[in-house]
Amino acid sequence: MKIAVIGSNMVDLTSYIERMPQIGETLEAPSFEMGCGGKGANQAVAAAKCGADVLMMTKVGDDAFADNTIKNFQKMGIDTTYVQKVAGVSSGVAPIFVDKDGRNSILIIKGANNYLLPADIDAAAKDLSACDLIILQLEIKLETVYHAIEFGEQHHIPVLLNPAPATKELDIEKVCHCTFFMPNESELAILTGRPTSTDDEVKAAAEMLIEKGLKDVIVTLGGRGSLWVSANGSKMLPAFTVDTVDTSGAGDAFIGCFANHYVKTHDVWASMRQASAFAALSVTKKGTQKSYPAPAEVDAFLQKC
Ligand code: RIB
Repeated sequence: MKIAVIGSNMVDLTSYIERMPQIGETLEAPSFEMGCGGKGANQAVAAAKCGADVLMMTKVGDDAFADNTIKNFQKMGIDTTYVQKVAGVSSGVAPIFVDKDGRNSILIIKGANNYLLPADIDAAAKDLSACDLIILQLEIKLETVYHAIEFGEQHHIPVLLNPAPATKELDIEKVCHCTFFMPNESELAILTGRPTSTDDEVKAAAEMLIEKGLKDVIVTLGGRGSLWVSANGSKMLPAFTVDTVDTSGAGDAFIGCFANHYVKTHDVWASMRQASAFAALSVTKKGTQKSYPAPAEVDAFLQKC
């Protein structure tokens, strides 16, 4: 079983703050940490950490960050055949702010991620067509995302699209062939133009996407849990209760873990439960990839629950 992640990588520059500075104000932040991130890379690492065989397709710059990112993938046992350097361009970078309640705000500078093109998918067609699931996000060009979805359809490979960061430019018709569509509640609000503050609102917005042709929509709701909506109805999985330190990368943790469990079991509900536990443990530690738990920790946590 092999999972392909076609997507982004970033260098996360995380400042832990008491509050956001005002315009013109200089404010001291209590601490700072740097780590490997990017939604695609996080999802790849989460899946690999859960035991998946992962192929990563992404672009890095020709700066000091690039080798570290590649080494990090290799340390995790991820296939880096299609992790390529782009000359004269910076690697993707993400300044992140995490407040004292663990909530995050993220800026992304895509850099080399913008150079992952449809032609790269065609060039890797032989290896990609041997994969059992393709995972995508929106930190690369939309044309590449659409091409990957078409590729998945042509080769009968299920595709999981995490529409993050959300953009109104996303053409829902072009992404209807995805097997799974996994936004969080704020992304769902942007994509549908509907409120998503309550569980009923989330369900109504997700149902709107089902009416437009999407098959299985799974909305991650942070501390509230996750909601699975399909043409057969909806099911809410409450979140596990944990002490939250840093929520950044938790959605990616959920997706990577879900993907690993799904390709092995084809059980959506059991995969959501496993992913929910993995993501819950991730928010108890600082950082994105750095916070992802080992499989034994997840098993022990689930036995206690
Ligand atoms: O989802 C979290 C990720 O979003 C961070 O790692 C950051 O790099 C941005 O891509």
